Amino acid sequence: MGLLYPQMKLNKYIVIDFDSTFTKIEAFDLLAEISLNGHPQAEERKKKIWEITNLGMDGSISFRESLEKRVELLAPNKTHLLQLAEKLKSQVSESFKRNREFFQKYADNIYVISNGFHVFIDPVVTEFGIKATNIFANRFHFDEQGNVTGFDEDNPLSANNGKVEQLKRLNLPGDVYVIGDGYTDYEIKHAGLANKFFAFTENVERENIMEKADHITPSLDEFLYLNKLNTAISYPKNRIHVLLLENVHPVAIELMKAEGFSVEIQTAALSEEELIKKIKNVSVLGIRSKTQVTEKVLEHANKLMAIGAFCIGTNQIDLQAATKKGIAVFNAPFSNTRSVVELVVAEMIILMRKVVEKSNKMHAGMWDKSAAGSFEIRGKKLGIIGYGNIGAQLSVLAESLGMKVLYYDIEEKLSLGNATRCKTMKEVLQQADVISLHIDGRAANKNIISEREFNLMKKGVIFINLSRGHIVDIAALKANILNEKVAGCALDVFPHEPNNLEEFVSELRGLPNTILTPHIGGSTVEAQQNIGNFVPGKFMDYINTGSTSNSVNFPNLVLPTLENAHRLIHIHENVPGILAKINKVLADHNINIAGQYLKTNELIGYVITDIDKKYNKDVIKELRSIEHTIKFRVLY
Ligand code: NAI
Repeated sequence: MGLLYPQMKLNKYIVIDFDSTFTKIEAFDLLAEISLNGHPQAEERKKKIWEITNLGMDGSISFRESLEKRVELLAPNKTHLLQLAEKLKSQVSESFKRNREFFQKYADNIYVISNGFHVFIDPVVTEFGIKATNIFANRFHFDEQGNVTGFDEDNPLSANNGKVEQLKRLNLPGDVYVIGDGYTDYEIKHAGLANKFFAFTENVERENIMEKADHITPSLDEFLYLNKLNTAISYPKNRIHVLLLENVHPVAIELMKAEGFSVEIQTAALSEEELIKKIKNVSVLGIRSKTQVTEKVLEHANKLMAIGAFCIGTNQIDLQAATKKGIAVFNAPFSNTRSVVELVVAEMIILMRKVVEKSNKMHAGMWDKSAAGSFEIRGKKLGIIGYGNIGAQLSVLAESLGMKVLYYDIEEKLSLGNATRCKTMKEVLQQADVISLHIDGRAANKNIISEREFNLMKKGVIFINLSRGHIVDIAALKANILNEKVAGCALDVFPHEPNNLEEFVSELRGLPNTILTPHIGGSTVEAQQNIGNFVPGKFMDYINTGSTSNSVNFPNLVLPTLENAHRLIHIHENVPGILAKINKVLADHNINIAGQYLKTNELIGYVITDIDKKYNKDVIKELRSIEHTIKFRVLY
């Protein structure tokens, strides 16, 4: 592979371990999966290998003996080893993948020293630009059929203290820094052959190694940052502290960890007081609906860059206070759209067929077979009030089931398929056989469906509300169910929604052909997974590129990826003249602007400026000190 980056000289040598450092896993573990696949004693052998590894680690047997025994049990051949090398290529540690430029730039000074074997190490690390002559490892011996018969026993790396011996032989003429996860890496420092030992904990954390390290580096980013070698990233991601509360989906935790952030998880919500204590060091906060992010909490949130609501609503966050502090808020507005729509479709059918009543009777021992009052939904008119994410999606599904769709929205909305847009809600109410509400919870929507609206509806209408509880006058609804104007009703949301331990008190209990569900329209495993995927994506875009697409409180800017430039991200109070001031600083320093993007809302202005790679550090200071600046950061 050609080298993309110019090479640079360093006055130090960096020695990197392979297993669980360069790659996420131990190569022999993966080899066991390959070479023992289908072997009748596979499990037994794996167990033995594990025992031998431990005996080797605690010094009961020599390293060479442990290696011999393990190789014998693994019984690999060339094909297995080639497969292993291929598989290991996809197991390179995330922070190594992020920092390819580093390996190429300092290729002369980077060594990989391992007690593993060239045959599977070389193909993986040379792809990163590491020189073949800088890789030190063992070599297998093969017979004519390609089976492993042993290994080169003259190689110091096949014996105890191998890495120390190898370093002695290398006699590197400068400081030596070792990065590794295991004791053999620390031994190099212990023997006086390395100046510093960095315990690498991205894949495994070994307490006894961490205690001995000069620095603990949760990722390569941190190593590069500590040694001022960082090229690809501006700030080590492990220094970005993410606090995820309220049991957010594990997929979100995985995504944030894979990105290299330090992730702290708490299953419960935090009280205002608890959150105030914690928030000081938090850069990214993830919550669901219970944690209240108040102005008081935000006053203490000096490092906070973004808040993610792993749900739909953002009422629990003081958006105005967050905006004034330059904190971007994200949510997952359409991750559960499909779930809500599917429930509405099911309820339309169940209500039209009076399934609930029939089922209840069966449970009470009554067999009441009759077609009276049961209808298909095909050919019926569905009236959708609120044609947003959910309303529009329902429109598509309902049409595919053969319904005719009418809708009303206060805003101009493109009608999908053959749906008919109505100019007033009245038109929908008067014609529809099924009415489904999908409007938002703004204050003006309180009791938007009350006695007057029920009077407009057709007799025998099916009425469905899975949007917000306070938009329906419950007393009027009850009266219209009892007088049979409404033949069937499904409600998922209520003016007062208790918690799981409280009783659900409502005059709707016990009404005929009425389905009541506890606000579960959007509650599916898929929706939780979608939310878990969506919100971290927004965080990462914002942190890595400055993009604010879908932010609830920030001006929405979708930005091109940064190529060969630095990106200056400036958040300021929305007062006139800031852009001119930014550009004056840049002009005074003769800096060429490659691209500039500005958007404002009532409270803040958001300016992104991409500039040439070379710039004077004073520029940053001057930009930071422009009056009315709220937050400023640079992406490399
Ligand atoms: P959205 O914001 O995409 O759509 C709402 C639409 O209603 C907008 O097009 C808006 O212009 C329109 N609208 C607002 N007031 C109106 C009025 N008075 N008359 C006519 N149109 C009006 O929201 P989305 O994602 O479609 O959600 C709709 C509702 O469903 C929201 O209230 C949301 O809270 C609720 N929801 C309920 C869930 C559940 O578990 N039951 C899950 C997800 C959302």
